[in-house]
Amino acid sequence: VITPGNVILNGEGIFLRRLGAADVGARYVQWLADPLVTDALEVRFEPQTKESIVSFVESMNEGNTNLLLGMFLKENKLHIGNIKVGPINWHHRTADVGLVIGERSCWGKGYATAAITLVTNYAFDELNLHKLSAGCYEGNVGSAKAFLRAGYLEQGRRISHFLYNGRYVDSLEFYKLNPRSS
Ligand SMILES: CC(C)(COP(=O)(O)OP(=O)(O)OC[C@H]1O[C@@H](n2cnc3c(N)ncnc32)[C@H](O)[C@@H]1OP(=O)(O)O)[C@@H](O)C(=O)NCCC(=O)NCCS
Repeated sequence: VITPGNVILNGEGIFLRRLGAADVGARYVQWLADPLVTDALEVRFEPQTKESIVSFVESMNEGNTNLLLGMFLKENKLHIGNIKVGPINWHHRTADVGLVIGERSCWGKGYATAAITLVTNYAFDELNLHKLSAGCYEGNVGSAKAFLRAGYLEQGRRISHFLYNGRYVDSLEFYKLNPRSS
């Protein structure tokens, strides 16, 4: 089960911790209004407000099926993005992993790879999950590479799965198994 209260994970250049309503500031709202950030995210279909983001964060902290963590720079504690493990299926001990880095100046610095590695280890070692999966639009090179660098493998693709800029693209599907789980 997910421990209520805070989870803090320390990695290369960043740390991850649970988010609260107080973390939803103007910059966070701006990320989700930035077409370059939301280009390959489903959230682009639902315009966001501070209120909608606060209720998203609060809903993620309720119950036992999602672990939403903020990504923060160690050097100045700037909130640069989020990573989520969920929804968790406790019967099968599986979950999805998704992430966004909203501060574009922080792209290409290895933070996605670091964050994926941190939540993957936490999900396997502390939550005892068996398998994590992730998907991205074909062509999202940064996302695909970050999952591969964090030790995920491609498990297949869903053909013609997302409408992207007026044409259908495949969904690339990645997974990682817990080495201690049978
Ligand atoms: C996709 C995203 C998470 C990548 O984060 P990141 O911190 O830039 O990724 P990393 O720095 O860990 O990069 C991993 C690899 O991808 C490469 N990469 C990152 N962004 C890239 C891009 N736009 N084009 C090509 N390569 C890219 C890096 O150079 C690195 O390559 P290497 O392994 O050869 O060194 C980030 O750009 C983002 O949040 N984008 C917007 C939202 C999104 O698309 N989320 C993922 C949805 S599935």
